[in-house]
Amino acid sequence: MAKIPLLFCFFLSSFALVDFSTAAPKKFVGVYEIKKGDFSVNITNWGATVISVILPDSKGHLADIALGFDSVIPYINDTTYFGAIVGRVANRIAGARFKLNGKEYKLVANDGKNMLHGGHRGFSKVIWSVKEQKAGKFPYITFTYRSFDGEQGFPGNLAVAVTYKITGDYELSVTMTAKALNKPTPVNLAQHTYWNLAGHNSGDILSNTLQLFASHYTPVDSGLIPTGKILSVEQTPYDFLRPYKIGSRIDKLPTGYDINYVLDVSHPDHHGMKKTAMVKDNKSGRSMELWSNQPGVQFYTGNFLKDVVGKGGYVYGPHDGLCLETQGFPDSVNHPNFPSQIVNPGKVYRHDMLFKFSF
Ligand SMILES: *[C@@H]1O[C@H](CO)[C@@H](O)[C@H](O)[C@H]1NC(C)=O
Ligand SMILES: *[C@@H]1O[C@H](CO)[C@@H](O)[C@H](O)[C@H]1NC(C)=O
Ligand SMILES: *[C@@H]1O[C@H](CO)[C@@H](O)[C@H](O)[C@H]1NC(C)=O
Repeated sequence: MAKIPLLFCFFLSSFALVDFSTAAPKKFVGVYEIKKGDFSVNITNWGATVISVILPDSKGHLADIALGFDSVIPYINDTTYFGAIVGRVANRIAGARFKLNGKEYKLVANDGKNMLHGGHRGFSKVIWSVKEQKAGKFPYITFTYRSFDGEQGFPGNLAVAVTYKITGDYELSVTMTAKALNKPTPVNLAQHTYWNLAGHNSGDILSNTLQLFASHYTPVDSGLIPTGKILSVEQTPYDFLRPYKIGSRIDKLPTGYDINYVLDVSHPDHHGMKKTAMVKDNKSGRSMELWSNQPGVQFYTGNFLKDVVGKGGYVYGPHDGLCLETQGFPDSVNHPNFPSQIVNPGKVYRHDMLFKFSF
C-alpha cells in the first residue's frame, strides 16, 4: 500500500476541491490492492476509484482491463469518471433541480444547466476513508464517506460505504450502501469503470459481443435527459437481448451508446442479484458477466473519450472502453413514473454488483 500525502498539494493548488469543514484531520490518498492468485484489483480512496483490474487471458497473458491513469493525480481533474464511484445521484438531473415533499432543491450544475454524477465535487471527487482492508481467501477493502447536508445541493447527512471484494476465482463484488441520517434524500450510486477486456490499451471495443437482459430502455432528448417514456428495444439498435457485436449497429446512433436500459424482471438467483449483462472479447478470449440488484443499467461506449492520456502514455479515444453502470433510472427525481430513489432517514440504500470474469 503506497501512501501519498496529497493533502499538501491541495493546500497549494486545488483549494476548491477540498472542503476543510468536513475533512478529517489527516486524510491520505493511497493506492490499495486486493489480490487473489493472478487476479488483482487496485483501488484508490480518491473517489473510491478502481485504477486497475489485472487477469490472464486464454493463453495465460496478463492484462489490465480497466482504463485509467498511472497515478492518482490525474484523477483529480479527470472528467471521464474512470473507475470511480459516482453519486450522491449518478447520471443526469435535468435543470439541476428537483422537488421533494413540496420543497425545491437547487443542485450544482456541471453539465450545461444539468447536474451530472453528483456535481462538480460528487463522490468521485472526494477523499474517502479506508475503513477496513483484509487479505485472505476473500480479500476486500471498505471505504466510507460522510456526505453532509447541502453538499452539492442535496438534503441531509448521508453515511456512504463501498466494499470491493474478491469473492471467488476471478470474481469481484462491489457493494454500495448509503444511510440517510436526518433528511429524506435521493441516492443513486454507480460504479463507473471503463472496461476493455482485450486490455485497456488495445483499441476500441466495437468487436466485443454484448448481451443485455433488458427489453426496454428510457429514450433521451438531445441533452441526454430522459423523455420519461419507456420503450421496447425491439427493431432498434438498442436490442441486445441476444448477443450482438457492439459495433454492428452503432452507426445508426449519433455518437454511440449512452442510454439507460430497464432490466427485465427475472427470478433473482445470486444473493438477490439478477444477470444484467455479458460481454465477450474474441481477441483475448476474456468474457465478463455482470449481476446486480438494480432496476437499470447505463450502457456507455466511451463516446466522449478523446485524447485522454492514460496509463503508460496510451491515448484513449472514442469507444476504447465500455461502461455498464447498474443504477436507478436517470433523472428519476423528476419522473414520478420511474422507480423512486428517495431514501428516508434511518433507511439504507443498497446496491450490489458482481463481476464474473472468465477466459
Ligand atoms: C497495485 O498496487 C500495489 C500496491 O500499492 C502496487 O505495488 C502495484 O504495482 C499496483 N499495480 C498496478 C498495476 O498499478
Ligand atoms: C486541476 O485544475 C486546476 C484548475 O485548472 C489547476 O489549478 C490544478 O493544477 C489542476 N490539478 C491537477 C492535479 O492537475
Ligand atoms: C467469436 O469466435 C467464435 C468462435 O471462434 C465465433 O463463432 C464467433 O462468431 C466470434 N464472434 C464474433 C463476434 O466475432
